[in-house]
Amino acid sequence: MKARKDERLRVLISRQRIARRVREIGRQITREFRGEPVLLVGVLKGACIFLADLSREIALDASFDFLAAASYGQSAETSGQVRLLKDLDTRIEGRNVILVEDILDTGVTLNYLARLLRGRQPKAVRVAALLDKADRRTQPFEADYVGFRIPNVFVVGYGLDYAERYRNLRDVCVVEMESEAKRRGKKQAGR
Ligand code: IMP
Ligand code: MG
Repeated sequence: MKARKDERLRVLISRQRIARRVREIGRQITREFRGEPVLLVGVLKGACIFLADLSREIALDASFDFLAAASYGQSAETSGQVRLLKDLDTRIEGRNVILVEDILDTGVTLNYLARLLRGRQPKAVRVAALLDKADRRTQPFEADYVGFRIPNVFVVGYGLDYAERYRNLRDVCVVEMESEAKRRGKKQAGR
């Protein structure tokens, strides 16, 4: 896919690395749940591609369900408020739930969602996040399965968006504004 005129995309994590890591996480989940069925709960919309790939690396009976949540505007980081836009279609009491998210950033969203699901008496809740920006955390939160820890950069692709664009990129990329990319190019040329 082509970037917009004023934007440059730089590959941070290639599709091959993603595929390898997703396979490893799938195997780990398969081992840890020992033949029991699991319910994969994707957080819309960013997690849908990760969920689709991860589910096919899990050799267990797997069902899908989805949630949608939004942080309360810009104040989310300080207020820690999350609004549930779409709840699950299914009951999770007594079930093994794996909450699947694209990226763990401040921790506000996953803190809220994990607590919500744990309150419904599931047998187990585990959290899988493809990416983890640990430096950005405002609320302590650790995922059980993390694909990659990344620095504090804005990324798109493999489900992640910038204003709803770039979700269908195969690689996880950093978006840079043209001016920024030029500066970087100059710096490298001058080394
Ligand atoms: P948290 O509640 O701050 O952990 O927010 C996580 C949500 O912020 C993710 O589900 C994404 O929707 C969004 N997000 C955080 N960082 C990025 C990024 O680098 N690219 C795209 N979306 C991001
Ligand atoms: Mg999201």
